[in-house]
Amino acid sequence: MDEHPDSLSEMPSNTATGHVEVPARKRMHLRTYGCQMNVYDSERMAEAMDAAGYDLTDDVNDADLVVLNTCHIREKAAEKVYSELGRIRKIKDARAAEGAETLVAVAGCVAQAEGEEMARRAPVVDLVIGPQSYHRLPELMAEARRDNRAIIETEFPDEDKFAALPARKPLDLKGATQSQRIRARTAFLTVQEGCDKFCTFCVVPYTRGAEFSRPVAKIVDEARLLVDAGVRELTLLGQNVNAYHGETQEGGTASLATLLEALSEIPELARLRYTTSHPRDMTDDLLAQHRDNPKVMPYLHLPFQAGADRMLAAMNRKHTGAEYRDIVARIREARPDLALSTDIIVGFPGESDADFEDTMAMVRDVTYAQAYSFKYSARPGTPAANLEDQIPEDVKSARLAALQDLLNAQQLSFNTSCVGKTMPVLLERPGRHDGQLVGRSPWLQSVHVASDASLLGQIVDVEITSGGPNSLAGTVHLPDTRRDARTAA
Ligand code: 5AD
Ligand code: SF4
Repeated sequence: MDEHPDSLSEMPSNTATGHVEVPARKRMHLRTYGCQMNVYDSERMAEAMDAAGYDLTDDVNDADLVVLNTCHIREKAAEKVYSELGRIRKIKDARAAEGAETLVAVAGCVAQAEGEEMARRAPVVDLVIGPQSYHRLPELMAEARRDNRAIIETEFPDEDKFAALPARKPLDLKGATQSQRIRARTAFLTVQEGCDKFCTFCVVPYTRGAEFSRPVAKIVDEARLLVDAGVRELTLLGQNVNAYHGETQEGGTASLATLLEALSEIPELARLRYTTSHPRDMTDDLLAQHRDNPKVMPYLHLPFQAGADRMLAAMNRKHTGAEYRDIVARIREARPDLALSTDIIVGFPGESDADFEDTMAMVRDVTYAQAYSFKYSARPGTPAANLEDQIPEDVKSARLAALQDLLNAQQLSFNTSCVGKTMPVLLERPGRHDGQLVGRSPWLQSVHVASDASLLGQIVDVEITSGGPNSLAGTVHLPDTRRDARTAA
C-alpha cells in the first residue's frame, strides 16, 4: 500500500522550478444499489472525492478506488455484496500484480448493518462507511491507505454530514468527461433522512437512524446550485419526507408544505416532487400545495403496504385501510388529475388469502399509475423477522404474480388513457436514436419525441400519440416562433 507517493491528502507542491505540480488525478468506480437516496448519496460522495482528486470511471478494472453504495432493504442483500467483493478481490489482486493499488470502500445500509463483520469476512475491504459519515470519506480513505488497515465507521455522529460535505458541484455519475456530459435536468435532493416510524418489517430506522430534517436555508441554497447547473425539476427525498420539520431562519419550524413554497420561489425551477410519504403525514397544508402550487407535480408516491387492517396493525403502520382510502379521496379532491404510485408487500407473516384479497381490493379501488410490489423478506433485527407463521415462498410468489398482473394492467391503462392528450413534457436526455429525445410527463412517465437536441432542458407541449406499458410517445407542439427547432419526425 505504501509504495504510492500521492496520497489523498496531498496538496499541490512547489517544485524547484517554481511551477506548481498538481498530483495526477485518480480514478474511482462507484456502484449504486437501492433507493433514490443512495443515488443522491453517491452524487455527494463523488463530489467529495472529486475535490480529493478522483475522477469517475465506468471501468472497474481501471479504478484506483472502488465504492459500493449498498442497499439492505430486502432479500439477501449482504450476500450479494459479499459475492461482488469476491469479484473485486480478483481485480484488486490482478492490479496489485502489475504494481497498481486498488482501495475498496463499502458504503450504504449493508455497511451500516454489517460493520466489523464485513471487514472480517471480506479482507479486501479497506473502508466500511455508514450513511451518516459520507463527509468523512476522503479523510477515512486516506487513513485506511496510510495505516494499511481496514477502517470501520458506522457511528451516528452528532455533526451534520450535509454541512460538512463540499457544496454541490454536479458531476456526471456515469464517468464521462466534462465535455461529453449532458447537463442533468432533474435531480434528487435529500431534505430529510432516517425514520422514527418503526414499521415491523423495515430496517431503515436501524440503518439510517432517527429522523432528521435539514434546515430550509441549506436546502434552498443547494437547490439554487442545482438549478444554476441546469436542473429544472427537483425531487425532494426523505424516508419519511412528509414528516419533514426543518428549521427556518427565523428559528421556527417549517413543514414540507412550507419548504415546497420556499423552493417554488426559485424562478428557473419549474417542477417539484417529493418521495417517500407516509399516509399519516399527509397534512392539510401539503394537500393545499397540491391544489394551489402549480410547480408541485400531480403525482404522489403513497405506500399502503397491505390492505387488511390486521396486517396493517401487525406492520405497525398506524393507520387502517379506511383511513388510507380517505386520504386518497381528500388528495384527489384537492388535485383531481393526481396520479398515485405505491409500495405493497405480499406474504407478511400471518397473511391469509382473505388478507391478500384486501390488498387486491385496495389496488382495484384506488387504481395506481405505477407501483412497486415485493415479497416480504425477513430482515435480521426487525420485529417481524421473529414472528411465527412466516408465509411459504410459493404462496408469496403466487400472490405477487396475481398482484403484479393487476398493477401492470392499471399502469398500461393509465398510459393508454393519455393518448390524444397534450401535456407539458420536460425534455431530459437524448433517446437511443439520433433525433430522439426522452422527457418526463407531469405524471413521471417517460415520453419519447422526435426532436433535435436544441430543446433539451425545455418544457414543451407534447401531444401523446401512443402509450405502452412503460412509456409514452408523442409529437412536440412548439409555439410558432420555435417551429424552426423542430426536426422531421
Ligand atoms: N420485505 C419486503 N419489502 C420490504 N420493504 C421494506 N422492507 C421490506 C421487507 N422486509 C418495501 C416496502 C417499502 C419499500 C421501500 O420496500 O414496501 O415501502
Ligand atoms: Fe421503513 Fe416504515 Fe420508516 Fe418507511 S415508514 S422507512 S417502511 S419504518
